[in-house]
Amino acid sequence: MAKLCIALDTNLQQALDLVGALRGYPLIFKVGYKLFINHHKVITDKVKETGFELFLDLKLHDIPNTVKEGVISARDLGADYLTIHISAGKEALKQAVEVKGKIKLLGVSLLTSLSEEDLLDLGICRDRESHVLELARLAVETGFDGIVCSGQEVTLLKERLQRPFLAVVPGIRLEGQPAEDQKRVISVEEALQRGADILVMGRSILRSENPVKRVEEILLMLA
Ligand code: C5P
Repeated sequence: MAKLCIALDTNLQQALDLVGALRGYPLIFKVGYKLFINHHKVITDKVKETGFELFLDLKLHDIPNTVKEGVISARDLGADYLTIHISAGKEALKQAVEVKGKIKLLGVSLLTSLSEEDLLDLGICRDRESHVLELARLAVETGFDGIVCSGQEVTLLKERLQRPFLAVVPGIRLEGQPAEDQKRVISVEEALQRGADILVMGRSILRSENPVKRVEEILLMLA
């Protein structure tokens, strides 16, 4: 069954309240740098102590040795998932895998906020799908556990990659909600049909008047 991951893109108090209010639900909480930089131990300990899985979304992108040290620190912090940009290169991915322990390493292929035009601006001339597929192949063959990709690429990756992997899909919107800065959004139903294993949702839940009720509704869709 697919899992729901809530992106804690909030201030510290809102994050602590939400984690406390959702105790007992089968959820992953994603901590990104907004909270991590100033409050990392407070929020990561709260997520773990409340019994949830911890997804550290730090999107590491550095030279191999620095990436490796980052993975070791995340491992020591008790993270269950950690993101690394696949474009950090094969050697960085390899060294990350060597020290990962029980962390599930997730390779970031292409940010869901990037359009075809953005790719050209970055000097990437192959089409989006080929680019994502080749990055994902590199990560999975190096021993990564999952790939962060848009809902539009999940089917392709599930069909074409030879090894099993977790498809982690952000950019999810409920009916009628605005895409905002995301360029490639998808509904919960579509993400599931296409094979998403972890649905990452932020604003659709955080901006709800009753986030707990909204989480319950989404969990019913996943059941
Ligand atoms: O609010 P929204 O649901 O768009 O939030 C999506 C979350 O997923 C954010 O925390 C964002 O950093 C993260 N993410 C993403 N696209 C990626 C990787 C992570 O939107 N490729």
